[in-house]
Amino acid sequence: MPEPLLEVSDLRIRFGGFTAVDGLSFSVRPGEVLGVVGESGSGKSVSMLGVLGLIRTPGAEISGKVVFRGRDLLTLKNAEMRAIRGREIAMIFQDPMTALTPVYTIGWQIAEQIRAHEKVSRRAARDRAIALLGEVGIPAPEQRVDAYPHEFSGGMRQRAVIAMALSCNPALLIADEPTTALDVTTQAQILDLMRRLRADHGSAVVMITHDMGVVSEIADEVLVMYGGRAVERGSRRQVFHTPRHPYTWGLLDSVPRVNGPRARRLPTIPGTPGASGQGCPFADRCAHSFAACAEVPPLTGDSGHLDACWLPEEKRTR
Ligand SMILES: Nc1ncnc2c1ncn2[C@@H]1O[C@H](COP(=O)(O)OP(=O)(O)OP(=O)(O)O)[C@@H](O)[C@H]1O
Ligand SMILES: [Mg+2]
Repeated sequence: MPEPLLEVSDLRIRFGGFTAVDGLSFSVRPGEVLGVVGESGSGKSVSMLGVLGLIRTPGAEISGKVVFRGRDLLTLKNAEMRAIRGREIAMIFQDPMTALTPVYTIGWQIAEQIRAHEKVSRRAARDRAIALLGEVGIPAPEQRVDAYPHEFSGGMRQRAVIAMALSCNPALLIADEPTTALDVTTQAQILDLMRRLRADHGSAVVMITHDMGVVSEIADEVLVMYGGRAVERGSRRQVFHTPRHPYTWGLLDSVPRVNGPRARRLPTIPGTPGASGQGCPFADRCAHSFAACAEVPPLTGDSGHLDACWLPEEKRTR
């Protein structure tokens, strides 16, 4: 087993009195695709923004360790972190407008991203931008390269942002709902691009998504989050074939049938994600909760299949 490329240990993120990420640990090996799933508000985006040093909210408290290629990213200076972002680690944000500036053309922004990290001529960077726009499925990229973000549709903007993230062949790509706004055909193209990034450059991908179908297609490993914690972690096979946590059972039961429409949002399990306080964060919504759930269950297990639940072994079937 190769050494992890990214190893996150006991990440905690607090905003005022609210704990958004509560002791999250996970790792990603080179070339691995980790699918991160969990319903709205479970802390998926915030934890990845924390990993990248992109939480700007005044008063936010962040602790834990985020070791990437031997360095703890939480201890780096802003300038050191900027050098890593975009070149070694790229992020595709949930909202494409966060990554695009309205006043510059799409092509200029992709070319600048390339030139910020590589010594290439303007011309060469522009040509690369055109090629990348073509690869993410933008029609007539030699013309579209000069368009402004507002001249693109939402799905096209999303693809432009993906092109920007791929432009430097990052060792790690963190993609937050990259395909949610796209139609099924474009979605398939984007998943292909991610597979190619891995095949050609050995890149690892962390893919946040609500779509269990996407996870089942692309992920090697799956991390299920609930209430700012990891509640289950394992290989795709382990999580899909022998899921252990009642929350994961709920997620899998809510997956639309084969050939059915794809959900944009996971249909919800009754109740709302509990504010993390005492006990198992899922207990109020769990059909199986019992006395033991008043304490927080640790994430434990064998053969790389971990879960945080007190249910005894004989009750661990869906
Ligand atoms: N800057 C912030 N200040 C205060 N609270 C925040 C901040 N960012 C996120 N949160 C809170 O942290 C929790 C987790 O948010 P996050 O965006 O990570 O959810 P998510 O799992 O990505 O959800 P979605 O699937 O809807 O994108 C939410 O309750 C959110 O309101
Ligand atoms: Mg999010």
